[in-house]
Amino acid sequence: MSSQDLIIRPYLEEDSVEVIALWREVFTNDPPWNDPPQVIQRKLAVQRELFLIGELRGRIVATVIAGYDGFRGWIYHLAVAPNEQRKGLGRAMMAEAEKRLKAIGCPKINLQVRSTNTDVIAFYKALGYSVEDHTSFGKLLD
Ligand SMILES: CC(C)(COP(=O)(O)OP(=O)(O)OC[C@H]1O[C@@H](n2cnc3c(N)ncnc32)[C@H](O)[C@@H]1OP(=O)(O)O)[C@@H](O)C(=O)NCCC(=O)NCCS
Repeated sequence: MSSQDLIIRPYLEEDSVEVIALWREVFTNDPPWNDPPQVIQRKLAVQRELFLIGELRGRIVATVIAGYDGFRGWIYHLAVAPNEQRKGLGRAMMAEAEKRLKAIGCPKINLQVRSTNTDVIAFYKALGYSVEDHTSFGKLLD
């Protein structure tokens, strides 16, 4: 099985069990506000067509959430199942997200990675992303 066999399509409601299982396996250090069922519900309310699933032989093995706010595109929750990593699936998921963002006029993609996550940093560099010298701010809205 390779990235050529990967089917990439928008998320459907019936995908939730598999997607949540994949995220719980892959995103072990996620903060409480990234609770998977809530992440899914929020994304379905905004640009749900940019929530993409990667399927190999009917099994969900990858996800990516993209968004465009009219200024920048953003990427979240890129995940590839551990036993399918290093086969080009992450690259294929990102290429599809980039294509769909470009198609709606997005000129640039930003994304955030924890600075300790050296493997993921190497992945994004391999895809042509550069580390930009900004300070990242966040505020939780209650
Ligand atoms: C990051 C992730 C999505 C990469 O997916 P993947 O399918 O394994 O990546 P690919 O096979 O498409 O890799 C493409 C290139 O990226 C680089 N790369 C990928 N993983 C790497 C790693 N662990 N270390 C160094 N380079 C890496 C390589 O150059 C690779 O090409 P090569 O295999 O021909 O050498 C996957 O490792 C993952 O799901 N990680 C856990 C979840 C996560 O942290 N996601 C990011 C949060 S936004």
